[in-house]
Amino acid sequence: LSTEELHFERMISSIYVFGFVFCLVCYLFRWKSRPKNFPPGPLGIPMLGVAPFAGSKLENYLASFYKKYGGVMSFRLGPKDWVVLNDLEAITQAFTKQGESFSGRPKSVVFDQLTQGCGIVFANGDRWQHQRRFVLTALKRLGMGKRTMDAIINEETNRFIASVQLAGGTVSILIRRLQANNTCNFLSGKHFDYKDKRLQAIIDHRPALSAVIFYLHMIKCGSLQNVMFLCTAINSNAKYQANKKSSIFACVVTMINNHKQSLDENNLCDFIDIFLSDMKKQKGDFFTKLQLCHLIRDLFVGGIDTTTAALGWGIVCLLNFPECQDKIHQEIDQIIGKLNYAVPNMSHQEKMPYLRAFIQEVHRFQTIAGLNIPHCVTEDCILYGYRIPKGTPVMSNIWFVHNDPAHWQEPQKFRPERHLDGDGKFIPSNRVIPFSVGHRSCLGVQLAKAELFLFYAGVLKHHEFQVDPNFGLPDWSRDDGGTLKTPKDFTVCIKER
Ligand code: HEM
Ligand SMILES: *[C@@H]1O[C@H](CO)[C@@H](O)[C@H](O)[C@H]1NC(C)=O
Ligand SMILES: *[C@@H]1O[C@H](CO)[C@@H](O)[C@H](O)[C@H]1NC(C)=O
Repeated sequence: LSTEELHFERMISSIYVFGFVFCLVCYLFRWKSRPKNFPPGPLGIPMLGVAPFAGSKLENYLASFYKKYGGVMSFRLGPKDWVVLNDLEAITQAFTKQGESFSGRPKSVVFDQLTQGCGIVFANGDRWQHQRRFVLTALKRLGMGKRTMDAIINEETNRFIASVQLAGGTVSILIRRLQANNTCNFLSGKHFDYKDKRLQAIIDHRPALSAVIFYLHMIKCGSLQNVMFLCTAINSNAKYQANKKSSIFACVVTMINNHKQSLDENNLCDFIDIFLSDMKKQKGDFFTKLQLCHLIRDLFVGGIDTTTAALGWGIVCLLNFPECQDKIHQEIDQIIGKLNYAVPNMSHQEKMPYLRAFIQEVHRFQTIAGLNIPHCVTEDCILYGYRIPKGTPVMSNIWFVHNDPAHWQEPQKFRPERHLDGDGKFIPSNRVIPFSVGHRSCLGVQLAKAELFLFYAGVLKHHEFQVDPNFGLPDWSRDDGGTLKTPKDFTVCIKER
């Protein structure tokens, strides 16, 4: 090479180096900066934020800052700043009192792909408000909190007992099928085809989105889109989700077509009927077949995975604390009675403080959605004097509300008695919030509560759960496949008593 060429090459490489350093400095400046008067909290390291430090239990990590920052803090995940609500007061202030501005869902590429902007759980704006109102009215019309609901759930509970006795063993999958039966009854009534192989495959499949992928994808919400290995993981998950979506959709489309044929305006018997009837009457953007498909998918996932996890933990508790099962048995004998025609219904609840305390303690002790579903603020707002710009994603630490030692004595102990007063009366706690609070809280609360109560009352009336000697006592380890905290598969024996 000539000296001139050499010189030129050096110049080029120093421009590269200079450019690189310049970008790095700019990046670090930008990385350090936060919106003015933003809630305080850890930044972690560039690119990854606190991800390397948070460990596998993000809720514990966030709670560890509570003493330092109080109810409202922030942290950086990937390149994105999140606001965290760490106690009940902050959560209530934001989701209930300022619910108008705190009820969005963060935008995300993966969920956009998955939902096409439809459905309800990840919907935003007018569509969300419209559909939420629709779902609430529809569920009420279908007899939420009425006798018919009790009857349907009781019938399915009896089928569950029969299928456990028949198949024995692995109870996790049977709980899931029970919950699928319950949910499908409300959504699709008699048009739900239990023998549909596709539907069975979906029901028996493990919960969808893995926690790791979920957090990776949250990190991805910013500029990390270009880091290839993340993208591959996320995209393959998105593809998997899309496949799963299409198989759910295939079933749903069949269901809808069956409904269309038999639609009788004077006799709307299930959720799809009501939607189709409104679709006929009302014009507008939100009553479309696509929206109905996504809505059904959301209710399917929201209704099955959650109650399955809650019941799973409940049974693990019954096995680990047999004295609780004894007390529930006593209460059932006393209030409902052992006779065959004495069938449990929701009005028994009032008279069964111990069972209610047990259920509330399971919710507290094994928090299924420890960090809730993420929210985001839909406009600039002020919380506790901090400024939070429009679009900021918000996490809420339900797990810590359930485990704050300032409010719970020995929170790591399972103790239903903590929910009973001196006279043995049940104390409903506003500090047990598995369904979240405020404008975006769970739409299925009433259904879920009935499913839980009638399950325990119905199954334990004549039966008891016993440890399967071949399997041993199930422990507290969670299935690490999903975002919801679910017990690992386990087997039990169910004996007549
Ligand atoms: C033990 C059972 C359940 C638990 C612990 C639970 C918990 C939750 C939580 C934490 C949320 C998010 C609330 C928020 O963003 O602030 C939620 C939302 C939701 N749940 Fe549940 N849920 C349960 C059962 C059900 C059932 C049976 C259904 C109904 C079919 C249902 C339907 C929904 C829907 C539609 C939403 C979205 C609401 C919205 O985004 O506006 N859930 N649930
Ligand atoms: C769900 O319903 C079907 C049809 O009635 C029944 O065969 C099955 O045993 C039920 N499954 C459970 C676990 O209840
Ligand atoms: C619940 O069952 C009791 C008898 O066990 C009955 O007296 C009562 O009317 C039932 N309530 C409802 C709402 O079905």
